[in-house]
Amino acid sequence: MSTDPAGTPPRYPMPRPAGCPFAPPEELLRRSREEPVFPVSLWSGRSPWLVTRYQDVRTVLSDTRFSVHRDLPGFPASSLGQVLRDRIAPTFVGMDDPEHARHRRMLIAEFGVRRIAALRPVVEETVAHLLDEMAARTGPVDLMEALAIPLPSMMICRILGVPYQDHEFIDKHLRIRLDIHSDADTVTRSSNEVEAYFVELIRAREHEPTDDLLGRLARDRVRTGELSRQQAAWTAALLLVAGHATTAHMIGLGTMVLLADPARAALLRDGDESQVATAVEELLRVLTVTHTGRRRVAKVDMELGGVRIRAGEGVIGAAELANRDPDQFPDPQTIDLARTPNHHLALGFGIHQCIGASLARLELQVAYPALLRRFPGLGLAVPAGDIEVVDASVVLASPEIPVTW
Ligand code: HEM
Repeated sequence: MSTDPAGTPPRYPMPRPAGCPFAPPEELLRRSREEPVFPVSLWSGRSPWLVTRYQDVRTVLSDTRFSVHRDLPGFPASSLGQVLRDRIAPTFVGMDDPEHARHRRMLIAEFGVRRIAALRPVVEETVAHLLDEMAARTGPVDLMEALAIPLPSMMICRILGVPYQDHEFIDKHLRIRLDIHSDADTVTRSSNEVEAYFVELIRAREHEPTDDLLGRLARDRVRTGELSRQQAAWTAALLLVAGHATTAHMIGLGTMVLLADPARAALLRDGDESQVATAVEELLRVLTVTHTGRRRVAKVDMELGGVRIRAGEGVIGAAELANRDPDQFPDPQTIDLARTPNHHLALGFGIHQCIGASLARLELQVAYPALLRRFPGLGLAVPAGDIEVVDASVVLASPEIPVTW
């Protein structure tokens, strides 16, 4: 990477060095300390501004001078798949207020703190059941397959009202969606298949509404003409995807971080609810699994972090770097599971802040302690360095984490 501001902009996202997959590349961290805002080059050949300081990233995420409209010419899309999907199946993640607020309001009650807290016994039961199945097996078990993937999948399927038996279909399309290298044909075919799948589920519920999110969308939004069947289908697909891989890889990679230090694992195993909640926030901060930045376009000329940004230019709020800004987080490279305050940006900020934040937190707060209590001798079955951590994906991911106990 060139550190010369006049040189070629560094590539973004930048591959993480082998052996150190959990922290952003040192070169990006160093550059962000020298220059808070600098251009980067994307897969598309575009060179948007990378905004790296905590306060500036909060500005990008909360200031109405920035837009998320993906059809604006300067939008710094994260992949070809994102461009195509937003054309085929636009959802409120790509809308500004007031349009965004109108769509988001339709879902907000479904993911409210109280409604999600009421799901705690269901999450506990689901985790206990998955851990029972895991305990019945011998030899190394893949933690992703045994717990990390099925838990969020079962929970979001239940909330939506999607049959969990269809999870292989869902998983296939999820992989296509998250892979930043998926080609145009594959993305188009996959988006159409997912739309058709959800349209059928919604159509059936228009006649016989069910007590789940899809049932309420069909009854209250589609039958009233507020949303078309397609729009409801796109919204459902968005929730399914957004609620799935993010949490799954937080469970997987978070467990790896815990197992790397017996004191960390002990804290999650023996800590009370409040200590566990605090620790989960730190895992969210250090991992920032949605590690390819929040994408926006400047609507007007402005100055940010000492740089002149012009209307129409792409801007990326690098939450993974902002979450290691020493002005906000003392000793940011240290994993301090008791860190407070910890107002990290791993779940976003501003109007597009993660709608599933309470659900994600609940799943993580239940999963880590239950896993470590059930298997006090839990450890990786292979050296940590042999476990693949994939950064060529919208979500920092590990396809497989073999464990023993
Ligand atoms: C640990 C797990 C999760 C992480 C790290 C995460 C991260 C994020 C982030 C960073 C954003 C902001 C995107 C932006 O500003 O451009 C976001 C938005 C969103 N998340 Fe999550 N998320 C997680 C779990 C979930 C779950 C369980 C759901 C299920 C409903 C969900 C649904 C959404 C939706 C629909 C949005 C878009 C909100 C909007 O545009 O108004 N997420 N998430």
